[in-house]
Amino acid sequence: MRVTVLTGAGISTESGIPDYRGPNGMWRRDPDHEKLVTYDYYMADPEIRRRSWLMRRDNPAWEAEPNAAHRALAALPDAWIVTQNVDGLHQRAGSPPERVLELHGNMFGALCTACGARSTTREAIDRIDAGESDPACHECGGVVKTATVMFGQSLDPVVLTRAVEAAEECEVFLAVGSSLRVQPAASLVEVAVRAGARLVVVNAEPTPYDHLADEVIHDPIGAAVPRLCSSLT
Ligand code: APR
Repeated sequence: MRVTVLTGAGISTESGIPDYRGPNGMWRRDPDHEKLVTYDYYMADPEIRRRSWLMRRDNPAWEAEPNAAHRALAALPDAWIVTQNVDGLHQRAGSPPERVLELHGNMFGALCTACGARSTTREAIDRIDAGESDPACHECGGVVKTATVMFGQSLDPVVLTRAVEAAEECEVFLAVGSSLRVQPAASLVEVAVRAGARLVVVNAEPTPYDHLADEVIHDPIGAAVPRLCSSLT
């Protein structure tokens, strides 16, 4: 069975990483959070960058472990994992890296927005811990950011094209732990359904695509996804 899975922050909450729009989501608790991940605000305001680096340093994802849902998806033979998450937990659960498409990049790489010089987020955080508030590029002094796709930036076209193909080619499309409110990621659901795939949505709250689903599961993902995967193999 050809399975493609689109995952969102909801698959990692049971690993201790808060989501954005859920009941305990970061955006519910700190409406300002959106500015920290919006490119124009980030580039324009050193105070936004200072707060952004503290948020990155304190991200629970550094200590998080994959949970039963990540592991169940990793055990699905030849599945494509299209994730909006930047925490790397799918790969750590055993999903082959070449079959994990990180639509929004990941939190571990860093790059200079001016010259493109690559570094690591860990290096930048070490500079924060040593007292810098907005570590500039060693090469050119430019603004440094993590290798995640911020609001206002476009996705990597190669990754997005592969994700669209994975949605078109599958027989079953699972949408797991996403409010499906952010494009173009959410539109992959429609691509899959139009191509004839069976759609299962696993999410605690309703999504704008539930009307297209053959099945909607509201149970906690950590229990629902292993059950679902065992029915697919
Ligand atoms: N079981 C079931 N559902 C859960 C669980 C759980 N344990 N934990 C959270 N959820 C659900 C929430 O109810 C919510 O509807 O997961 C969903 C997560 O939605 P969002 O927080 O909007 O996360 P996501 O869809 O991944 O956001 C997309 O927006 O902030 C940007 O770039 C960021 O990639 C992110 C994108």
